[in-house]
Amino acid sequence: MTEANDDQQCQYSPKIIDQSYWNDRWLSGKIGFNRLTINKHFDKHILSKISNIDQQQCVLFPLCGKTVDMKAVLSAGHRVIGIEYVQLGVEAFFEETNIAHEILTDEENKCQIYQGIDRPVTIYCADFLTFNQPLPPIDWIFDRGGFVAVNVSEREQYRDRLLEVMTPKHTRLYLLASCYDESDFHGPPHCVSPEDIDRLFGESCSTKLVEAIDTTIEFNQHNNQKLRRMEEHLHLIIRK
Ligand SMILES: C[S@@+](CC[C@H](N)C(=O)[O-])C[C@H]1O[C@@H](n2cnc3c(N)ncnc32)[C@H](O)[C@@H]1O
Repeated sequence: MTEANDDQQCQYSPKIIDQSYWNDRWLSGKIGFNRLTINKHFDKHILSKISNIDQQQCVLFPLCGKTVDMKAVLSAGHRVIGIEYVQLGVEAFFEETNIAHEILTDEENKCQIYQGIDRPVTIYCADFLTFNQPLPPIDWIFDRGGFVAVNVSEREQYRDRLLEVMTPKHTRLYLLASCYDESDFHGPPHCVSPEDIDRLFGESCSTKLVEAIDTTIEFNQHNNQKLRRMEEHLHLIIRK
């Protein structure tokens, strides 16, 4: 994942990233991670497949921001669930897509639920690490900028939330990871190696490295960096 047009993101990356870091980024418009076009991996591995399925599919986007990939799922007639804890991001998605919605509040869990009125979209304004809302069966998960965004110390907790919403042998989790020499750069995006994926998911899931792409030039240009190598890895993870 690259953080296009967000040159300063590295200068203000704290060692531990918390909600105020992401709030500040949304407030100051430093959201270079947001793209105007559909992600090519999402297009190839999820959108093209669900476009040929008649039965409504449910696609989950953890740490969704306002990604246009969600809009593409809706345009294909399928259902979207997103989780994003910065309210500005959730509101921007509904504003930019002009989707009428209502806002429900779960007082007990301190969670606001943005529910599309005539479109099948629900975005939970909540911390994914402690997310505990009941969800319908999830067919697909697209994780871009989610797993790589959380602190390394929170990866097990994040993995457990993903496992909880995955139906064994059914839900297809496509996870995009950034892989680089950590002496060159500190995230986000944090470095997640294939070994990290195996260690975290290997016991409970089958894992497959679907694509590994050299994105060094693009990353360095967009982030004003000089990394020797940056690879984007797409993993397919299915619960056993
Ligand atoms: C790098 S961005 C990726 C956004 C989106 N997936 C995309 O592809 O554009 C990470 C997003 O996750 C949100 N976020 C970070 N930690 C979170 C958490 N624990 N729970 C919910 N949202 C979180 C941030 O506010 C930010 O919008």
